[in-house]
Amino acid sequence: MADEPLILGIETSCDETGVGIVRGHTLLADALASSVDEHARFGGVVPEVASRAHLEAIVPTMDRALREAGVTIADIDAIAVTSGPGLAGALLVGVAAAKGYALAAEKPVYGVNHLAAHVAVDTLEHGPLPAPAIAMLVSGGHSSLLLVDDLARGVTPLGATIDDAAGEAFDKVARLLGLPFPGGPYIDREARSGDPASIAFPRGLTAAKDLAAHRYDFSFSGLKTAVARWVEGRRRSGEPVPVADVAASFQEAVCDVLTGKALAACRAHGVDTLVIGGGVAANSRLRSMAEQRAQRYGIRVRVPRPGLCTDNGAMVAALGSHLVAAGVRPSRLDLPADSALPLTTVSV
Ligand code: KG4
Ligand code: ZN
Repeated sequence: MADEPLILGIETSCDETGVGIVRGHTLLADALASSVDEHARFGGVVPEVASRAHLEAIVPTMDRALREAGVTIADIDAIAVTSGPGLAGALLVGVAAAKGYALAAEKPVYGVNHLAAHVAVDTLEHGPLPAPAIAMLVSGGHSSLLLVDDLARGVTPLGATIDDAAGEAFDKVARLLGLPFPGGPYIDREARSGDPASIAFPRGLTAAKDLAAHRYDFSFSGLKTAVARWVEGRRRSGEPVPVADVAASFQEAVCDVLTGKALAACRAHGVDTLVIGGGVAANSRLRSMAEQRAQRYGIRVRVPRPGLCTDNGAMVAALGSHLVAAGVRPSRLDLPADSALPLTTVSV
């Protein structure tokens, strides 16, 4: 609707420079510049390289988003920016840019939580989030289960990974198999021609003794080590490594644990909506398995399209829009770039 506020969102927490523009729940522009190719040869994101790439990309990406939406900065009602968590130097570029534009164009600015934005982005595709909902956040840096009553006011963490994040496990196993960085999409692709039942990899923190203390927590480092041992064993005995089968069996183990714990949280809290966000939510097996299993319990699974699961500016704009609609106060102009912003702080 034309009378809903027009919100611009800026994302620079990792290796994607994103600027999104939304009106209410309607996405008008989603401009993205990625430095992923510059990091690929290092096998991981190099913070200094990411910061410099953001610096070069921020103004052109901003201009592209405004052009795509057919608006000018003067038309924008508020600017939202990722305040954290993320890489300090990378965050600083987005926060400084947001402050500059806000000051020059006299707009309010909202410093927001990157992880809450991964949840909020789903509203652009599926409308307002029913309350309460369970959110599962699975990215390169985080894996958490949250109870969401009102995303504008805060979230209640139920569990998180005790070691590697889900995306990190995908990236490490991909590297082991000689696949490029970031590994998630490559494992996803390889797994399509593999047999997910061919190798029985462990499901972390699902044994009865672990469930008592870690019902909604995750652990992926044991799985990663199990994959490494299995692959080493093959190489030592001179046998070829069946990459597709390893990828499929590994992916199956991750998805099995993620969906199992997320649906258990929904049932224990009497919640009928599960929203999945973050880069790993782009995984085709995770999407289909969650959908299939949730059906049995009458639980609705909401996952944004893959392009909105990985980092982008639209997610930040979506959260900003939600905060404005909920009447949350803007941030002060000295808002921080906080690399360790806690999950429970939705806006600063
Ligand atoms: O949310 P995101 O773009 O950045 C962070 O905030 O971390 O997530 C990136 C992570 C990477 O680890 C990447 O390998 C993973 O998401 N990822 C996937 C897929 N697409 C991206 N993992 C599994 N399957 C995919 N299709
Ligand atoms: Zn992210």
